[in-house]
Parts: sequence; structure tokens; C-alpha cells
Amino acid sequence: MALTPFDLSPQNVIMWMMKLGIIGCGKMGSALLKGAVQSKSVNPAEVFLHDAFSQLANQLAKDTGATALGSNAEVVAKSEALLLCVKPQDMLNMLNQLPDIAEPPLFISIAAGLTISSLEDALGSNSRVVRVMPNTPALVSMGASAFSRGAGVNDEDAKFVHDILKAVGTVTEVPEKQLDAVTGLSGSGPAYIYTAIEALADGGVLMGLPKDKALMLAAQTVAGAAEMVLQQDEHPANLRDQVTSPGGTTIAGLSALEAGAFRATLIEAVRTATHRATELGKS
Ligand SMILES: NC(=O)c1ccc[n+]([C@@H]2O[C@H](COP(=O)([O-])OP(=O)(O)OC[C@H]3O[C@@H](n4cnc5c(N)ncnc54)[C@H](OP(=O)(O)O)[C@@H]3O)[C@@H](O)[C@H]2O)c1
Repeated sequence: MALTPFDLSPQNVIMWMMKLGIIGCGKMGSALLKGAVQSKSVNPAEVFLHDAFSQLANQLAKDTGATALGSNAEVVAKSEALLLCVKPQDMLNMLNQLPDIAEPPLFISIAAGLTISSLEDALGSNSRVVRVMPNTPALVSMGASAFSRGAGVNDEDAKFVHDILKAVGTVTEVPEKQLDAVTGLSGSGPAYIYTAIEALADGGVLMGLPKDKALMLAAQTVAGAAEMVLQQDEHPANLRDQVTSPGGTTIAGLSALEAGAFRATLIEAVRTATHRATELGKS
């Protein structure tokens, strides 16, 4: 899918000029590229891929119109921005094997826990490095991502990163010191909500609903409640108040949640996961 002259909006003009490389074409690399291509945030004719497992890169190239290359070095040589989508434990080793190039690209890392300074140490202190924390709902274009920029990153670089992430959900820029909290909230958050959906469905099954119907009702309830918060721009406490009538069913359920310390437990989950992200970043 090539861009035509009719696609030359101001946004696309910037994208047109940025040749994008992707190293690591697994779950997140694939989701980010598919979203970016679908939203025309990148021109697939100027996207270059490599993965240690070449079939993954070949398949992603086939799906998007990008080009799979034979090595990371070839990808770096062709790229103005490089999206690094390998696992954190593979990242520094992979970066250390990249060739030196005269005009290094903008490096965009999505590796959990790896700090901008550790990436700059591996890439050279003048490198332009952006650190991103996406989450897996990016796979269905419902991601929640945050990013932080290193000292060498300019506004055009940041806009490029913003637009790629926007293609697969919402995105916000934060100071790097807040990225561990982002990890504890939206990075790990989908797992908390899967647990909540499962538990809601189990409650329905306990009270006599068929399993498949209970799961569908639970998942749609969570999706619908989230949309209410997002679309109506209303504080969740107000929305809760609107559906809680005196002596009714909802206040009875809410009372049980309070007795089980539901809110305190979620707050503690975010705090504990944030601390764990900080620990992992130091190890
Ligand atoms: N999935 C999530 O929930 C999530 C959320 C936020 C951030 N992230 C971050 O996203 C990154 C990617 O995660 P993922 O879930 O997409 O992982 P994944 O599906 O395992 O994809 C990573 C890919 O990179 C390949 N690879 C490893 N070393 C390589 C190298 N030196 N050169 C080229 N390719 C290489 C791997 O190949 P092999 O399998 O053959 O090694 C694999 O295909 C991680 O850093 C993770 O921290 C993930």
C-alpha cells in the first residue's frame, strides 16, 4: 500500500521522509507496524524489517508491504528511525552488535525496564533515544502507550513516535521517572482486568449463568464501562453514583467490593508492579 500524492497531509509529509526500520517482528513489532501502516503513519515502501526468526519478518513484510532484510545491519543502514522490539534480555547484546554508522537513526525502544541512559551507554551518548511503554491491547488498536525522550531527541522525532503509537491506541509523553508507574498501571494493567473479567464471569456462573454467556457479559461490561469514562469524560465516581440507587442491587454489590478491599487491592497492585519495574530496571 503506497502513499499517493493525495495522502500528503502535513502528518504524512513528515512520515514520508522518515525511513523506518524494525528489529524484532514478534507480537509488539507486528502490532505497531500494522497499526502504523493502516493509519498511513508510515509508508510501507520505506519500512525495513529483520527478525532472528526470518519467517516472522517475511510474514510481516507480506502483510504490510514492508521489506524484510537479511540482517539487523542492513536495516540500520537504511533507516532514519529504528523501532527496537526485541525482549529486554536480548536488547543490549543486539545493540552492541550493530555496526557504527555515520548518521545514526532515531532509536525507539519498547523494551520494558531498559532506561534511556542504559540504551545511550550502548549506543553512544549523542544518540537520539526514545523509550516507550506500550501495552498488549495495541494488538487490537486499543493500546495505551507512554513515551519519554532522551536529551538528543527533537520535537519532530517525538511527533514521529507519537504518531506511530497513536495508530494503535492512545499515547502520552511523560518524564522518564514516571515510566515505571506507567508500567505498573497500563503495562501490567491488562492482566489485572483479565482477572477481573474472569472473576465477574465466575460470579455469573456461580449464580447460574452459562459460562460463555457469563464471559461475554463480563467482558462487554468492562469494555462498556471503560468507553463511558473515555467518551463522556466523566469521573468514574460520578458514573458510579448515577447507577447506585438507595437500597438497590448495585450498592449491595459495591458494599461487598468494599468489604473485600477491591480498590485498595488495585492501588496496591499498581504500587507493587511499579516497584518491580524499578527493580528490574536496575538488574
Ligand atoms: N508483549 C507485551 O505485553 C509487551 C508490553 C510492553 C512492552 N513490551 C516489550 O516489547 C518487546 C517485544 O516483546 P514481544 O512480546 O513482541 O516479544 P516477541 O514476540 O518475543 O518478539 C521479539 C522478537 O525479536 C526477535 N529477536 C530476538 N533477538 C533478536 C535479534 N538480535 N535480532 C533480531 N530479532 C531478534 C525474537 O526472535 P526469537 O524469538 O527467535 O529470539 C522475536 O521474534 C519487549 O522488549 C517487551 O519488553 C512487550
